[in-house]
Amino acid sequence: MLEKLKDIEHAGLEALQAVQDEAALEAWRVTHLGRSSDLMVVFSGLGGLSKEERPVVGQRANEVKNALEAAFADKAGGLRQAALKKSLEVEQLDVTLPGRKIPAGRLHPETQTMRELYHVFGEMGFQVYRSREVENDEFNFQLLNFPVGHPARDMQDTYFIEGGGSSDNPIILRTHTSPGQIRAMRWLSAMAPDNPPPVRIILPGMCYRFEQVTNRHETQFDQLEGLAIGPGITFSDLKGTLADFARRMFGQNTRTRFRASYFPFTEPSAEFDVECFICGGKGCAVCKGTGWLEIGGCGMVHPVVLKNGGYDPERYTGFAFGLGPQRMAMLRHHIDDIRYFWQNDLRFLEQF
Ligand code: PHE
Repeated sequence: MLEKLKDIEHAGLEALQAVQDEAALEAWRVTHLGRSSDLMVVFSGLGGLSKEERPVVGQRANEVKNALEAAFADKAGGLRQAALKKSLEVEQLDVTLPGRKIPAGRLHPETQTMRELYHVFGEMGFQVYRSREVENDEFNFQLLNFPVGHPARDMQDTYFIEGGGSSDNPIILRTHTSPGQIRAMRWLSAMAPDNPPPVRIILPGMCYRFEQVTNRHETQFDQLEGLAIGPGITFSDLKGTLADFARRMFGQNTRTRFRASYFPFTEPSAEFDVECFICGGKGCAVCKGTGWLEIGGCGMVHPVVLKNGGYDPERYTGFAFGLGPQRMAMLRHHIDDIRYFWQNDLRFLEQF
């Protein structure tokens, strides 16, 4: 019996040397340590041995079992190490490499510009008034002193909503943020018709025009309107406010320029230029060599508009301006095509 155990141990250890992978190891375990292995047969035969033989054979059988189990564990550990080494080589997994970045969202460049404008005007005491994008002819044009058939309407061709409104007052998409002037004034003057409160607001938002789309013109775009009304407001206040705005927005040394212009709802009216913040006024490709960038229109609120808003033009004066935030973003970031803004191309958006 002891001789047989010696053979069992010897055969087991020898066979184990040939094992190369986990599957072969499991097969080895079944053959040499499994329920019907030669070793287990010895264990189950112990009862049939004599009293003298039984402890000797039993002890020896246990030794063999321990030896085989230890060799098995050893082999299993070695195989696991080898498998890990191999997979590291094959898969080239480097656990010290940084993990994959979770893509972080960001604000659209236009949103960034708008928020900057709110911040600057907020510091100057202006509050945001949000007005509707779907308007009617009356608010978009008539109350702003563009009567039906007025030639200035040609500058702002629009979109009509079919079946809405009446023939002399169709529903349209607003062509500028200026109709919000009337809505804000009416809302405020209704609170105290005999003594309406002063106004100092900005009106941001989308406007729509039926435009030939080019790199400079889109059918939808943002505007930022400003409106200030009170007793004794003058053109100097308008100039001072916009000059201060330009310095806060573009830098302390930014100069500004006003050129006479025309809008039906302001009188007098002006175009508002800032010194080119790319070249500092020397002249470059962005300002086309002039040293100045056109930023928006402005003027003193027309008496007819004040009256339409519920403000007595004998007692109140005011100024208004309209800025093009997208144009500012384009100038700043050297964006050469306005169509990029609403195309939602990540290659564009990820640059901001
Ligand atoms: N609403 C004008 C436009 O869109 C801009 C403007 C606003 C001009 C306020 C003067 C005062 O062209």
